[in-house]
Amino acid sequence: MGGDTLNEDKRIDMTRAILVTGGAGYVGSHTVAYLLENMGNDLEIVVVDNLINSYRSKPGQKKPESLRIIEDMTGKTIHFYNCDIRDVQAMHRVFQNHLIECVIHFAALKAVGESVTKPLEYYQANVSGTCTLFEVMRDHGVHKLVYSSSCTVYGEPQRLPLDETHPTGAGLTNPYGRSKYFCEEIMKDLCASDKKWSVISLRYFNPVGAHPSGRIGEDPRGTPNNLMPYIAQVAVGRLEELQVFGSDYPTVDGTGVRDYVHVQDLAEGHAGALACFNKTEFTGFHAINLGTGTGYSVLQMVAAFEAASGKRVPWRVAARRAGDVAVNYADASLAARTLGWRARRTLADMCADTWRWQSTHPHGYAT
Ligand code: NAD
Ligand code: UFG
Repeated sequence: MGGDTLNEDKRIDMTRAILVTGGAGYVGSHTVAYLLENMGNDLEIVVVDNLINSYRSKPGQKKPESLRIIEDMTGKTIHFYNCDIRDVQAMHRVFQNHLIECVIHFAALKAVGESVTKPLEYYQANVSGTCTLFEVMRDHGVHKLVYSSSCTVYGEPQRLPLDETHPTGAGLTNPYGRSKYFCEEIMKDLCASDKKWSVISLRYFNPVGAHPSGRIGEDPRGTPNNLMPYIAQVAVGRLEELQVFGSDYPTVDGTGVRDYVHVQDLAEGHAGALACFNKTEFTGFHAINLGTGTGYSVLQMVAAFEAASGKRVPWRVAARRAGDVAVNYADASLAARTLGWRARRTLADMCADTWRWQSTHPHGYAT
């Protein structure tokens, strides 16, 4: 079962579509919302998600809550398939049912700690799943892809800021990070094998924030692993205090420094990447950082969140977390040159938008 079985006459009448894998999740849902808010009616959005890390619909509801809310916000329809990217037959059906022009591939497992205890699950979902997706794309003649990569592929920074020529793959401390690196290597091989492929691998720094409406946001399962959702849950009273992982790093106040980037800016970055596919010269593999270029420490994040929310965020110093680097921030100039993209939102915006979501949804989508 492949592209050959599709009736070409039928395709002519179909609306052009963008396939978004993992579109019910955090970054995916914000990107879907942004695309629907900003693109014309001549494009449709198709989401494939197995809902392993997104809030399931209420009884009788077919779509995950994030997508249902986006449809409500935009008045537009999202074509949703509750399926795994590794399900070859189901994926073929998706490509047969829609005139997919390009794919934005978010679907992956992303908990760093869990990846250490469940490496096979992570390589299965993130590497095997990605290869399956590429095979199905190839079978249907679809060769344009935006991939969700991570600054984690750089490992321990040899120099700062991190630009795209910094070596990747060395000293990665967990299977999650390696899965992102392996996928980039696979995509390079794919692009070398056939000039039809155009791949933009967006290396996100630390995504935070929420849609300015406060209606969609990050909804981690269980106790958050990441700083911003943890702080937000302390501020809203769900968690008691923040543990600051290490206060003896060579940074402004001894705590870890990261390049936090607003998820709405990331969504705009994906739209910028899609626009590049219209340039005929834009083929092959391109890795592009999405970050602000500025780093903030853990305690600077706490202070900014307290200011935005008017709530106290109690914290205490704990041991360093294994595998953490001291400082990490992007050189984001390639994104400006190639995508015409720059992060526009400030740290105050990131905190205010997170708080709007968290304070109105103390228990996330289940609220
Ligand atoms: P998320 O967990 O919120 O979203 C991922 C979505 O993919 C979820 O809805 C999940 O149900 C779905 N999914 C997982 N495995 C699947 C499979 N096999 N088949 C179909 N659907 C599947 O994560 P996110 O924060 O939105 O991250 C999106 C992408 O960005 C991931 O690839 C992640 O590795 C990457 N990334 C995230 C961050 C971050 O800190 N959030 C940083 C860098 C890169
Ligand atoms: N931190 C704390 N306490 C917490 C959580 C985090 O002090 O409870 C600190 C960390 O030590 C680090 C900073 O806050 O200094 C940021 O930690 P996050 O877990 O939020 O983010 P990381 O930079 O460790 O990693 C994140 C994602 C990875 C991704 C990476 C790069 O978790 O998946 O960004 O994109 F690969």
